[in-house]
Amino acid sequence: MTRPLPIIEPFRIKSVEPLRMTTHAERVELVRAAHGNLFLLAAEDVLIDLLTDSGTGAMSSEQWAAIMRADESYAGARSYYRFEASVHEIFGLEHVIPTHQGRAAEHLLFQTLTGPGDVVPNNTHFDTTRANVEATGATALDLPCAESHDMESDFPFKGDMDLPALERCLAEHAGHVPLVMVTITNNAGGGQPVSLACLRAVRALCDQAGVPLYIDACRFAENAYLIRRREPDQRGRPIKDIVHDMFALADGCTMSAKKEGMANIGGFLAVREPELARELRARLVVTEGFPTYGGMAGRDLEAVAQGLREVLDEAYQEYRHASIRYVVEHLDAAGIPVVLPAGGHAIFLDAGRFLPHLGWRQYPGQALAIELYLEGGIRSCEIGSLMRNARDERTGEELPAPQELVRLAIPRRTYTKSQMDYVIEIVRRVFERRDEVRGVEIESGPEVLRHFSAHFRRVDVRAPAPSA
Ligand code: F0G
Repeated sequence: MTRPLPIIEPFRIKSVEPLRMTTHAERVELVRAAHGNLFLLAAEDVLIDLLTDSGTGAMSSEQWAAIMRADESYAGARSYYRFEASVHEIFGLEHVIPTHQGRAAEHLLFQTLTGPGDVVPNNTHFDTTRANVEATGATALDLPCAESHDMESDFPFKGDMDLPALERCLAEHAGHVPLVMVTITNNAGGGQPVSLACLRAVRALCDQAGVPLYIDACRFAENAYLIRRREPDQRGRPIKDIVHDMFALADGCTMSAKKEGMANIGGFLAVREPELARELRARLVVTEGFPTYGGMAGRDLEAVAQGLREVLDEAYQEYRHASIRYVVEHLDAAGIPVVLPAGGHAIFLDAGRFLPHLGWRQYPGQALAIELYLEGGIRSCEIGSLMRNARDERTGEELPAPQELVRLAIPRRTYTKSQMDYVIEIVRRVFERRDEVRGVEIESGPEVLRHFSAHFRRVDVRAPAPSA
């Protein structure tokens, strides 16, 4: 029998950046100085930075070459036309509006389409999407499918939307749903993919109700790869054909090119309707820039134009998913509660089950993220009650999030397999002493997007001793 070859990084390294080791004692001090908030650490004090996969990846030699060729003209730059051509070719949406990052595209879209009394359904809003919907006075409604709540099942499309709930929402709020949005992959819900079948069904419901469908496209190629791998009638199809079918269903999309644009900054909004495009561009000039650069330099437009093509490379996607599966499988085999099956851009630890002695008010996700940093200098991010910051509409009282997760987001083309082995070992070490991990409470912080800047205090909730 021939053994299968391991899937290797389909690139070699041309430029390196040294990492700085810190001692445990130094990290204790650094966490104290950052008030328990890992966003407030200096990046130099982090060994392996898994805070986000957004804008943190490595660019290719072709991207750097394109950057040198960029045209920085204010209007009508060659780089804009290359960018527009890439978006047309891949997404098939006519009107392309460059923005400095994803949330600027969201801001433009929701400021234009939504207002007080409106409801925007989404499989799960990412935090900036929610903030932008709510900033217009509209309600951001999450409608994840029922299967998404079981983090151990191997259901292949936990990113799917709850279709009966969407149908009810469209009927109940008829005339007040300006758009439906689907986030691919579902970042806040564990990086899980949305099936093509679900997208088609959402489109059919939107057609019945006469409501446009928008896609939050940040991780579109990873989603398409997982459709090919998991959706029986999509096996064997090229990723770019699946992408084409997904976006043929949409009236528009918002995109953070910091993810699958393979660039360090950038984004866009793309729509079909010319009237809407005119209105959006009028706003764009006020807040971002002239329509042929938006919020981007010519060199950013070039990096994204090239990156969007590279992200569709089959060998790249094979490697990307194999490296994430590798970590998930090793953690799962060690009995560590991790969201299954592996998603596309990150490993999600289930902090609720990892630290069962902590209630949601002790923010187990934040407690675990702190511990991973103390143990091995790894920076991760809480995606749970802290980030969600849900409130009872009447009383304003804080409510728990459906899940308490810690995300280890993997920057693209950046860390090697041996660095992933190090991550696995650090998580195992924290798991072995999980009973000692203390919870946190918020000492101070803002009301909106509080997880970025809140200060935390450790609280002494530990697992009871076995004899107690
Ligand atoms: N939508 C999704 C699904 C995202 O994951 C993000 C960003 C955005 C929109 C906003 O894009 O950052 O370019 O303004 N997610 C990053 C993350 C920050 O770490 O997951 P942006």
